[in-house]
Amino acid sequence: MSTTITLTTIEALRNALQPHRSQKTIALVPTMGNLHQGHISLVKLAKQHADIVVVSIFVNPTQFGVGEDLDSYPRTLEADTELLAAEGVDYIFAPTVEEMYPLMPPPTQVLAGSISQQLCGQSRPTHFDGVGIVVTKLFNIVQPNVAVFGKKDYQQLAIIKQLVRDLSFDIKLIGGPIIRTEDGLALSSRNQYLTEQERSIAPLLNKHISQLADQLRQLPIDQIEQRFALINDTKTAINQSGFEVDYLEVRNQDLTNIDASATEKAWVVLVAAWLGKARLLDNQEV
Ligand code: PAF
Repeated sequence: MSTTITLTTIEALRNALQPHRSQKTIALVPTMGNLHQGHISLVKLAKQHADIVVVSIFVNPTQFGVGEDLDSYPRTLEADTELLAAEGVDYIFAPTVEEMYPLMPPPTQVLAGSISQQLCGQSRPTHFDGVGIVVTKLFNIVQPNVAVFGKKDYQQLAIIKQLVRDLSFDIKLIGGPIIRTEDGLALSSRNQYLTEQERSIAPLLNKHISQLADQLRQLPIDQIEQRFALINDTKTAINQSGFEVDYLEVRNQDLTNIDASATEKAWVVLVAAWLGKARLLDNQEV
């Protein structure tokens, strides 16, 4: 049985990976820790696609805005390490903020607007800049053949796909499906901010967008006005269920069309909604 090695410096990780590079493929699963079965499903995917699996655990300060939950974000390295060891992960990379960012805030940025300013970017304007810089650094440090990200953060995955194309990273990206509780709530570390009563309401978010996705499937592609009416009705229904909708949008799957008026066949319904202190994300491909 292989052992899981935890490394905290860039140099140590590079040295550890170097001997594997000529013979073996390497997969990276970037995380912020506080792992749940959603993350574990990404690790399992990584294992299917590469010989060596590296999981990074780093609560990345640059992707949190002022007043967000950076300080209270759950840090559970010991429990995470146990979970990853049980999955046979080869390396955990758990650097400090100083190791990742010699200068804070980092004076280098890699993203330039476009989809990073839309959807989640409207209420979290600096969030994807922080994701862009940390993912770029992780890609340079690990130099993986494969990297696995969850589809729950659909916009993040779309932005990273763009980043990989634009910066010519030689990395195959894999999007892992959303893992849900039995009652339909998408797994997320932030679900633990929900009170008991909010937790009982939370699965309704997925019910509403699944219903919208079904209605869109049945609607002829040129019925643009009806499509907008369905989206508006769903937004109202979500708000009436006790959420506060941040956005509910229907886009093509690379997120390039900025409203639901285009006539592509493959859609995605994307929603972000507040429920108490938790901002829940979900999506449904159509
Ligand atoms: O999805 C996440 O957990 C984070 O945004 C990521 C990709 C690990 C970057 O910090």
